[in-house]
Amino acid sequence: MRSILPYLLTLAVCHATIDDYKAERAKIVRAEALLSVGGNSTLTDKESDVNNCLMQRKFREVDYGFNNPQSYAFSRHFFTYKNNINNSRVYKIIKDLPKGAALHIHDMGILGPDYILNITYMDNLFVCFDKDDVQFKFSDKAPTEPCTYKWNLISDARRSSNSTVDFDAKIRKYFTMYVDNPDDVYPSIKESWGIFMQYFQRVAPLLTYRPIWEQYCYEVLRKFREDNVMYVEFRSILPVLYELDGTVYDPIITAKSYKKTFDRFKKDHPDFLGAKLIYAPSRRIDRDKLDEYLRTARAIKAEIADNFAGFDLVGQEDLGSPLIEFIPQLIAASKDMDFFFHAGETDWYGTTTDENLIDAILLGAKRLGHAYALPKHPLLMKAVIERNIGLEVNVISNNVLSLVRDVRNHPLSGFLANGMPVVLSSDDPGIWEADPLSNDFYVAFVGVASRLADLRMLKQLAFNSIEYSALKGSAKEEGIVMLTKHWNTFIENFDCSKY
Ligand SMILES: *[C@@H]1O[C@H](CO)[C@@H](O)[C@H](O)[C@H]1NC(C)=O
Ligand SMILES: *[C@@H]1O[C@H](CO)[C@@H](O)[C@H](O)[C@H]1NC(C)=O
Ligand SMILES: *[C@@H]1O[C@H](CO)[C@@H](O)[C@H](O)[C@H]1NC(C)=O
Ligand SMILES: *[C@@H]1O[C@H](CO)[C@@H](O)[C@H](O)[C@H]1NC(C)=O
Ligand SMILES: [Zn+2]
Repeated sequence: MRSILPYLLTLAVCHATIDDYKAERAKIVRAEALLSVGGNSTLTDKESDVNNCLMQRKFREVDYGFNNPQSYAFSRHFFTYKNNINNSRVYKIIKDLPKGAALHIHDMGILGPDYILNITYMDNLFVCFDKDDVQFKFSDKAPTEPCTYKWNLISDARRSSNSTVDFDAKIRKYFTMYVDNPDDVYPSIKESWGIFMQYFQRVAPLLTYRPIWEQYCYEVLRKFREDNVMYVEFRSILPVLYELDGTVYDPIITAKSYKKTFDRFKKDHPDFLGAKLIYAPSRRIDRDKLDEYLRTARAIKAEIADNFAGFDLVGQEDLGSPLIEFIPQLIAASKDMDFFFHAGETDWYGTTTDENLIDAILLGAKRLGHAYALPKHPLLMKAVIERNIGLEVNVISNNVLSLVRDVRNHPLSGFLANGMPVVLSSDDPGIWEADPLSNDFYVAFVGVASRLADLRMLKQLAFNSIEYSALKGSAKEEGIVMLTKHWNTFIENFDCSKY
């Protein structure tokens, strides 16, 4: 670019002919296209056919929006259009497309409210209704946790309600952020993160009952596979699991339970590559707590080495401790621990949250979670490219959690234009009733990327997800071989008339 632009400007002031001007202009368009994610790759004949089908449909959708901005979905809250996404032909193609891996997801936020409502039909579940909240606990006797009214077996409460349908509808609302009027319910990050955190508090006792945990994790993997994802890296706080009699285990048991489920799932589904764990406890901690977490991380690494990817800290970044508070400890830990820090998930420029990006990169993070504030840091943009640090972008999450309303303004568009090492993920799709990964690919492809971005970008994003995964050596090669196989099958079987 640097070589072309001054030349263009010279021409312009020298009154070049219109033809010269047009040639220079075309050069810029071509050079920029080559820089973008996937823009420097070529398609086979059959892939080009698929691409023509895809782009015809994409142009129709984008151009409709351009001509009817008043009804353009992606300028609004995800909830206002999410139920119509399945009408999109582009979406249907994306759903069938092999997408590689999901590298930024949180274990307890993946399956939606219908799955969780089903759990409330299991035996031995107690419920305590509060004024505007609810608590759950599996137990062989009334739980001892404080309850403002009274613990009841949920089966009794459901039976004595006038309508099971109404009862279930009421309970289900506690397991989702989805509402019909998001602009009223979520005017700012305070409300969206407030309700988001309440979700975890309510749902944790349902999911961490030991017999449910394994079943839940298996179902998560099944859902990802069904959405044409072949490998997953789970972030987990590693919650302690418990039994009916009140027995609780330590987080190592939770990690081992993960491994057991990963192995079982892979055995049942040889076309699935597998899964790894990123230990990601809360960032609202002091130095002593961090030491404890790092000890746990090492213990887990020792226990399930092949399924352990590394360490992260989670929670609303603006409210947590900034990384700068933990530098000596994290430098020491970086000797034997890979980092995958959430960093720069904020709209606040020039704050400690924003500066987490500096520390995450200096500490050698292998990937950055969100990196939403990255374009405000020119040197860090360069560092990310030079060090090849994967950027885990979660567009729908950023919309639902109040960082961006109109996703055409999402920084991902610039990352894609600059050919940066991007992977797309979904963060906590169940909490906003999105599907495991396809909704995020769809919104990014149609709503954020260039109108002209095509199948080559989607292919590059899928392969990036293996490239920037925590897979190493022959396991990564196996991943690339497997994804290539899935990709070729998709291309060979593609039938445009289906869409
Ligand atoms: C595109 O790829 C070719 C061949 O791999 C390479 O030589 C060239 O530098 C690339 N161009 C850009 C703009 O990345
Ligand atoms: C799309 O989803 C909505 C709501 O989930 C459902 O009512 C509708 O039948 C679906 N339409 C198609 C074409 O699948
Ligand atoms: C809930 O349970 C019923 C009955 O076991 C089952 O048919 C249904 O698929 C389950 N739904 C979900 C979302 O898991
Ligand atoms: C059930 O219906 C009766 C009569 O309509 C009403 O008085 C009562 O409050 C209802 N109970 C519940 C739990 O909604
Ligand atoms: Zn996250």
